[in-house]
Amino acid sequence: MEKITVELCMGTTCFVMGSSSLPEFSESLSESIREKIELKHSPCMGLCKDQKYGKAPYVKVNGEVISAATPHAVAVRIRQIAEEQDD
Ligand code: FES
Repeated sequence: MEKITVELCMGTTCFVMGSSSLPEFSESLSESIREKIELKHSPCMGLCKDQKYGKAPYVKVNGEVISAATPHAVAVRIRQIAEEQDD
């Protein structure tokens, strides 16, 4: 089974911008998708120091940056990737 790596930034800037709510992303996902997720917590990813990545908080899903991340946005991207893997 192909894993989907989800990396949540736990650095100070991301925390101040609301990263503590991000683990809720999994609540709206099906059990079969949740089983594919490999969850990591990262110290500052260094993205908050560079405007080109948009706003904190940041999440990486399979290495792809989601800026101004919300639990909903993270869940949507994970579902897309899971569907692509099933094709
Ligand atoms: S605190 Fe999250 S990228 Fe710096």
